[in-house]
Amino acid sequence: MGANAGNTQVLEVNPDNPQSDAIEAAAAVIRHGGLVAFPTETVYGLGANALDADAVQRIYVAKQRPATDPIIAHIHTVFELERLAKDIPDAAFKLAQMFWAGPLTMVLRRADHVPENLAAGLDTVAVRMPSHPIAHALIKAAGVPIAAPSANTFTRPSSTRAEHVLEDLSGRIDMILDGGETNIGIESTVIDMTQEVPTVLRPGGVLLDDLRRIIPEVRLMAKHISMKSNTPSSSPGMLSKHYSPRAEVLLFDGERNAVLNHMRVTAIELERQHKRVGILTTNEEASFFVKTGARIISMGSRTDINQIAHVLFGAMRALDNQQVDQILVRSYGSDGIGAAIYDRLIRAAEGKVLRV
Ligand code: TXA
Ligand code: MG
Repeated sequence: MGANAGNTQVLEVNPDNPQSDAIEAAAAVIRHGGLVAFPTETVYGLGANALDADAVQRIYVAKQRPATDPIIAHIHTVFELERLAKDIPDAAFKLAQMFWAGPLTMVLRRADHVPENLAAGLDTVAVRMPSHPIAHALIKAAGVPIAAPSANTFTRPSSTRAEHVLEDLSGRIDMILDGGETNIGIESTVIDMTQEVPTVLRPGGVLLDDLRRIIPEVRLMAKHISMKSNTPSSSPGMLSKHYSPRAEVLLFDGERNAVLNHMRVTAIELERQHKRVGILTTNEEASFFVKTGARIISMGSRTDINQIAHVLFGAMRALDNQQVDQILVRSYGSDGIGAAIYDRLIRAAEGKVLRV
């Protein structure tokens, strides 16, 4: 039926019209407490039965994820929401109606029978209804909500292709549904609906402005606001390492020409010190770096921010595979999905930003 990669079965599935035999096989693995990686519209998820504490435990082990980091439960219809959460505010139903199925995750009060380890011991639960046809079909066929963090080893960039999942998790999980590249490329927006004022914990596929059109008072968690200010202080270590390639990431921010110059000078200097340098850039800017000796990856046109989001994690992995020591990348502003890109880059850079 499919290829085998160390005990991990890989099934190719049509992303638009998933074959029912593959979906049924994967659903059976989930029902029996196993682990299946599958595509969503954001990134690949590593799925297990969200109502089975032992199955959820296997996710933490496979990802080498600390038990303090809670996992999102994925559902296929809004009716399932009440199976997972209680005291659901009206605003949550409004957001569900507007943005589900899609890249929005809501943190709500956890229903009593939902395993504690799903929520890392918190009394809340994060819930999302993905729109990807494979994710939708799998959750429906499994008949249970599916717990799924991004399908990568802890702290590594999320997987946007089945090959990335294999890179990190081959032999550690039962099955991968290979539905090709994911669409958005960056994870869902996480909004905490249990706070008095709904608060975005992680910017992502659904934009802050879109949320505010439904709930005007939505706010962004303080740490994101401070990152947007112009204070040159962003202290290293403020943010834990996350979404990271193995290489050290240097994030540059400021006026574009000054930034490009500074990136070029930095690349030349690092190469002179016999460091292997990778540069993540765009079609329009790549020529700027040709004489630096650095390995250059273009993420598409600088005018297409969604395309940059789409390829970002894969590009980081590609530079890692070229064994670079340092990755130089600039910020792409905070318009649209740029805010989510910035959030991932600043974490990959462990909070350090070079303001030019
Ligand atoms: O797009 C996505 O959200 C992908 C796909 C697979 O759905 N999933 C994903 O999961 O990115 P993960 O585990 O890599 O990131 C989930 C984030 C984490 O930052 C986690 O701390 C937060 O959601 N989270 C989960 N449950 C939470 C809870 N009960 N309270 C607060 N934050 C929570
Ligand atoms: Mg993740």
